[in-house]
Amino acid sequence: MELTVNGKGHSLQLEPDMPLLWVLRDELGLTGTKYGCGIGRCGACTVSMDGAPVRSCSLPLSAVTGAVTTIEGLGTTEALHPVQRAWIDAQVAQCGYCQSGQIVAAVCLLQEYPEPTPAQVDAAMTNLCRCGTYERVRMAITRAAD
Ligand code: FES
Repeated sequence: MELTVNGKGHSLQLEPDMPLLWVLRDELGLTGTKYGCGIGRCGACTVSMDGAPVRSCSLPLSAVTGAVTTIEGLGTTEALHPVQRAWIDAQVAQCGYCQSGQIVAAVCLLQEYPEPTPAQVDAAMTNLCRCGTYERVRMAITRAAD
């Protein structure tokens, strides 16, 4: 099975029903994408597939039809992605566990709507955060959109 992750191609011999999350974490060592609920609800496992947010815990490898981008593919510590920069400037993270999924979801949102309305932000950002950082998530998205 061929898979493109963060611009790099991989040939994988894996079960087609293996969730993408475990392919990323266990096979490719990309542990920035997190496991939360495992049933497609919380969004901790969000990655981008051809620019659309997908919940990788619930997406079998056989259903991956496009290029995957994880948090590791957005920027580097030397050259942060603008959304990552905005996240730091707005001091969004508390425990940080859900933040990689939140950031990937925000990047997908801003690719579709470079200047999203508050309603578009709320509709797109369905990821859960147990620390309740939602207001700062909205603030960071607004900063990134400026
Ligand atoms: Fe995938 Fe919660 S771990 S949505």
